[in-house]
Amino acid sequence: MGMRRVMATVSVCLVAVLAASPAQQRAAAVAPSLPNDPAATKFVDDLMKKMTMEERLGQMEQIAWSGRERQANEGHVRKGEVGSFLNITDAATIARLQHFAVDESRLHIPIIFGFDVIHGFRTIYPIPLAMASSWDPAMVTASQAMAAKEASSVGINWTFAPMADIARDPRWGRIMEGAGEDPFLGAAIAAAQVKGFQGDKIGEAGRILACAKHFAGYGAADGGRDYDSSNISDEQLWNVYLPPFHAAVQAGAGSVMSAYEDLNGVPATGNKWLLHDVLRSTWGFNGFVVSDWDAVKNLQTHGLAASPEDAAARAATAGVDMEMTSHTYRDTLAAGLKDGSITMAAIDTAVRDILMIKYRLGLFDHPYADPAHYTSEILTPEQHAAARLAANRSAILLRNEGGLLPLKKTIGSIALIGPMVDSASDIMGSWSLAGLPQDSVTVLQGLKNKLGPSVTINYTKGVTIDRKQPSIFDEQFPDQKMTLETKQVRDAEFTKAIDMVKRSDVAVLVLGEAHNMSGERASRETLNLPGEQEQLLEAAVATGKPVALVLLNGRPLDILWASQHVPAILEAWYPGSEGGNAVADLLFGDANPGGKLTVTWPRTVGQVPTYYAQNLTQIPDDMTGRYWDGLSSPLYVFGYGLSYSTFTVDDLKTDAASVKTTGTIQVSVDLHNTSGVTGDDVVQIYTHQQAGSASRPRRELKGFQRVHLNAGETRTVTIPLKVSDLGFWSPANHSWAVEPGTFDLWAGDSSAATLHAGFTVTR
Ligand code: NOJ
Repeated sequence: MGMRRVMATVSVCLVAVLAASPAQQRAAAVAPSLPNDPAATKFVDDLMKKMTMEERLGQMEQIAWSGRERQANEGHVRKGEVGSFLNITDAATIARLQHFAVDESRLHIPIIFGFDVIHGFRTIYPIPLAMASSWDPAMVTASQAMAAKEASSVGINWTFAPMADIARDPRWGRIMEGAGEDPFLGAAIAAAQVKGFQGDKIGEAGRILACAKHFAGYGAADGGRDYDSSNISDEQLWNVYLPPFHAAVQAGAGSVMSAYEDLNGVPATGNKWLLHDVLRSTWGFNGFVVSDWDAVKNLQTHGLAASPEDAAARAATAGVDMEMTSHTYRDTLAAGLKDGSITMAAIDTAVRDILMIKYRLGLFDHPYADPAHYTSEILTPEQHAAARLAANRSAILLRNEGGLLPLKKTIGSIALIGPMVDSASDIMGSWSLAGLPQDSVTVLQGLKNKLGPSVTINYTKGVTIDRKQPSIFDEQFPDQKMTLETKQVRDAEFTKAIDMVKRSDVAVLVLGEAHNMSGERASRETLNLPGEQEQLLEAAVATGKPVALVLLNGRPLDILWASQHVPAILEAWYPGSEGGNAVADLLFGDANPGGKLTVTWPRTVGQVPTYYAQNLTQIPDDMTGRYWDGLSSPLYVFGYGLSYSTFTVDDLKTDAASVKTTGTIQVSVDLHNTSGVTGDDVVQIYTHQQAGSASRPRRELKGFQRVHLNAGETRTVTIPLKVSDLGFWSPANHSWAVEPGTFDLWAGDSSAATLHAGFTVTR
């Protein structure tokens, strides 16, 4: 055993000892996350008795289909040596490969086909960060159920979603793929997605297997740089980063993906503490674990494994059942068995985990999609309607001075300006791999659909989105130095846009980031509006015309100037295939924005990471004296969002001033719609533990409800607060407990809620 390997083993053990909770020590008593199924167990046991080593390792193999190695891959399938493919979206190819596996392989074991159905398959829904902004888990469930219906219709059985990673740094491009910064909301949204993809039970018709990813800590990459190491204290790991995964597992997620990154010195894909002690022993997870793309092989790149064989043995021993793409299992585990680096028991455990899920999915009985559904379930009117509803419910109104929005359909003309106004690929957002631009409605088209010929729409791009600011771009890419001619064309386009603003009644600027600026490998070192969008916006406002800003983006951006000078700002995120229609609905009041931020919106990039659930510190409310050159308060707080309605919240009550650790408190407030417009608000409750074995965040979300109220309506909203949700993993005791004591309670419609009460928790 090399020195590195010894060190790594020692550090894994050390972490395990440090973090071992009583729950872990009681591991054997933990209930399985999926119900025991004696028929499945018998079927799989009998099957495994017949399997050769090649067939076993085949089940642990997931191949990325590109078509290039078609013959070789088909040969592997016919020999029963492929457990899974990813990235096939074509029904005929899926069916052909499945027939090879089922009809021609010796043991007829079906393949499980995986694909990143992250926010839709062919019909694209809003990006996950947007859907979370709806604070509407039921809508999230419904949307992912629709996505599952489309994907399963072509034979896809498995999605690599939900991404349950907490993200507190908007520089990280994959913040768009999660639910934001908060573990409580993140848990609710992760569970809602699992329910949408899988239904009540794995194997329901028209559903697909969920995969909670990226286990774990991937969202805490140093500097927000995708794939970088995460250094997370045990306290933060247990209390912030793990809860959404635990919720996904409790909701019955049949698979989990091990993350790419190095977590506290032990890469997640070789981290036995994470994949075995936490996931299986503590949480009772009994689905299967797939690695992320090439992550097994990359244990060597990380400097954990000495060779591909060592990487395979470490990942399989740690608890990675299926290897995505890098083939080290197929190529080396048999040799590893001979030289003792891997045990037969570890291989059998992996194969059993995978086959049990294939059985639960019903693949042995129904391996094929129904050809009648190949096209009939795709891009249906129901899909479009659901995508539009989701986009309407996901948007956030950040500012609306003087009630500029909603616009009146009777206006004469609109200047519709911006590089993405008519971009069908940008409106879909990243992770819309099977979505086609021609199936998407751009903002230009959406406004035309809404307004018809009676309103003149003056459209131009104004600017383009460059990879960098032009000046820096010139220095870094001298070959592409802007020619004088290019500059003149650009200037003319800019001037044309501003002229359009001048001669229109109102201007709508659609700005943000091109879709490929967020997502995987798309971190940013600034949060600026890229290119010359900021200058365009400032010039438009300088005309004196009313300007509404619509943002298409996947992360909070630096909009400090806009927040002070642009009267209306609508955060539409990447709203998906129906995005243009939804933006039109929202701009013209056919939909009323009701979304709320699930990430704290910083003033500048220098504030990140910033999040509402910070611990109280020296002079906690001093927002001016911490940075020499700026405020430390965010631009918009977590949970914030406006509406065309106005709401007030009052009369906070609890049904008990004191409650036992096992109890529940009913928290109620009166919510008033004080306007003449029907709309939605989100009631949120936050708590703070005043003293205990460790300091606790100044506020933590512990309950929420999106409420629809008619104009002038008042409703008493009651939210149950489960005292078990006040429990936390104490870094002092290395264990999870609800600690008796005094708690603050706030209720309102953002994390800045001011209605306050208190209660005590007793044993
Ligand atoms: C890599 C990504 O990190 C992961 O989220 C995705 O599911 C896989 N590639 C498969 O595409």
